[in-house]
Amino acid sequence: MTKRNLIADVLRLKSEKKALILAHNYQLPEIFAVADVIGDSLELALAARNATEPILVLCGVRFMAETARILNPDKMVLMPDPDAGCPLADFLTPAMIQKAKEQYPEAAVVVYINSTAACKAVSDSVCTSGNAVRVVRSLPQTQIIFGPDTNLASYVQSVLPEKEIIPLPEEGHCYVHMRFDPEDLQEVKGAGIPIIAHPECPEKIRNLADYISSTGKMAEIAQTGQAWYICTEAGMLDRLCELCPEQSFIGKEDAICADMKKTTLQNLIACLRDLSGEITVPPDVMEGARRSLEYMLTVP
Ligand code: 13P
Ligand code: SF4
Repeated sequence: MTKRNLIADVLRLKSEKKALILAHNYQLPEIFAVADVIGDSLELALAARNATEPILVLCGVRFMAETARILNPDKMVLMPDPDAGCPLADFLTPAMIQKAKEQYPEAAVVVYINSTAACKAVSDSVCTSGNAVRVVRSLPQTQIIFGPDTNLASYVQSVLPEKEIIPLPEEGHCYVHMRFDPEDLQEVKGAGIPIIAHPECPEKIRNLADYISSTGKMAEIAQTGQAWYICTEAGMLDRLCELCPEQSFIGKEDAICADMKKTTLQNLIACLRDLSGEITVPPDVMEGARRSLEYMLTVP
């Protein structure tokens, strides 16, 4: 079957089942073609929370689908491939958070949205790459246990020297954002091309960037100028080319998140047809995880 036929099938099933398709910025271009909402983690969480359709199909990774389910628990939340996870999220467990709380009893706990629902349930707030600084600033505590991304933790620390950020664990990182090379970036800078880096990049990369932002904000910043070097997952280059066809975007074509690429038109069709791949959250973590997600959403 041609791509065009597969897209037509998705659109027909989506309308028959009254489903809303939410896609992360790193998805494949053919998934953008059928999505109702395309955005970063925060934009997808807000769209899921406000959705009125009975079925939400999350084209992204598992923590995004769990977040949709927690924020809008009456909806059926589906994933075309429920095995699409986030290796960064797997760095942190609730037991590690409990231990850190005993070690730092005065500290608040902030977990990146790239974490399990069980970790969110034992935290004071969630944050995304787009609001991490604002969430940490909003908390009255000086000490903040922050996990699982050490690079995002060090970025927040650099912006908020008045806080003491305690990274948990010390080695948490996203393998995709570790692929960028400072020497390549020096060359890019030498050629006069501005750079935007995701805060999941290591400090040596962030220090060479003109802007540091979530993928959602990248889409705004990149509307200006003519050419950009983008330090994040390669799917973002497709997204930016779609949004700004007159401009050129360069990055690392092999900075690929294998889990983000698990969604295909074929498994999306099967998911809509059979209503398969339902994502649920254990009842004992639901309430705590919702409390810490809702706190994040109150931060202006
Ligand atoms: P954004 O929320 O900035 O899209 O980041 C999500 C993510 O997983 C980055 O790797
Ligand atoms: Fe997780 Fe990295 Fe993939 Fe984002 S790019 S979903 S942080 S593994």
